[in-house]
Amino acid sequence: MGKAKITQISVPEGWIDFGIGQPQIDILPLEYLAKAATHQFGKKDRNILQYGIQQGNGDFRISLAKFLETQYNAAVDPEHLFITAGISQALDQICTLHTRPGDTVIVEEPSYFLALRIFADYGLNIIGTPIDENGIIIEALEEKLARHKPVLIYTIPTFHNPSGVTLSANRREKLVGLSRKYDFFIVADEVYQMLAYTSTPPQPMAYYDTSGRVFSLGSFSKILAPGLRLGWIQTKPSLLEPFISCGYLDSGGGLNPFVSSIVNSFIDLDLQKDYLNFLRKKYQDRMVTLSEALRQYIPSLAFTDPGGGYFIWSCLPEGTDTEILLSQAHEYQVGFQPGIKFSSSKSLGNYLRFCFAFYGKKDLIEGVKRLSRIIR
Ligand SMILES: Cc1ncc(COP(=O)(O)O)c(C=O)c1O
Repeated sequence: MGKAKITQISVPEGWIDFGIGQPQIDILPLEYLAKAATHQFGKKDRNILQYGIQQGNGDFRISLAKFLETQYNAAVDPEHLFITAGISQALDQICTLHTRPGDTVIVEEPSYFLALRIFADYGLNIIGTPIDENGIIIEALEEKLARHKPVLIYTIPTFHNPSGVTLSANRREKLVGLSRKYDFFIVADEVYQMLAYTSTPPQPMAYYDTSGRVFSLGSFSKILAPGLRLGWIQTKPSLLEPFISCGYLDSGGGLNPFVSSIVNSFIDLDLQKDYLNFLRKKYQDRMVTLSEALRQYIPSLAFTDPGGGYFIWSCLPEGTDTEILLSQAHEYQVGFQPGIKFSSSKSLGNYLRFCFAFYGKKDLIEGVKRLSRIIR
């Protein structure tokens, strides 16, 4: 019998796969979490093993709100937070509550390919809208709104996956204005909001909400550990009501109450703050390493350094097929994500996404050297 699989992905020995958009196993904070768990268990509070309150443990929401205030430089009301099992689950629940098969969702072109999968699962009609270095191009969007009448817009406003760009404050305001005019929800996936290295992003979309139609989705997956399956929605209480009162939570209680209690200690002991600072330095270093290696060894790649997040999004001349390049790259035991995966219209065939979070500096450089043998 082979070795039982534990994690979602497994990379063959010796491979360097820039396509993996996950934290590196070696730097996941097991010892810090052990400390937090010991702290929580020391309280001898058996409530953490009971069905949780639907909105998410009240003590945890207070701690989370305090932590977010230090990160956002803005007030966070614990009553505006709903605890989720991560952004993927939040997206799924939003689709359950607010969409019907055949409804339209507008997404950025490019967009996070696994969100596209969730929307496809719900039978939604997915329409892409273009972005530039400041995020969604508002004029192009408005034209699509009038034509397609979407129920929601899914955006990754900060350190976008895959493009790395951030939606400017001015465009955030305009987007909210449009949500009122055309009556749609804004679903802002802010998984990289706190992973800022060289630029300070605008505040989360929830702070621009003057229309009562904005969901800001946060997650511990990229600032702590994805295996926890823990995140939050920040929005107005009236918008949270259907989430809290749905049958699923009525039966099963709030999401991940036990894990929430341990992360509560993780925050209260200041371990979250320390670990996030560690990650920012580590990832900034890796981003610089990857960027310099790409410029040195593959000068034909065009890209802009991101101000934060996980990814470098790059392109080759029009007509290049990065899916073909990928199969050639595999011969050298190196991988990346081809652009077409992020497109809702099967374009972007000359783009490549690199993740700099999963590998240390030595592997990043080695991976680029291998790729340079096929991209000249
Ligand atoms: C843009 C984006 N959204 C969501 C996720 C997944 O988030 P979670 O683990 O909270 O479900 C990822 C992970 O790569 C992501 O890049």
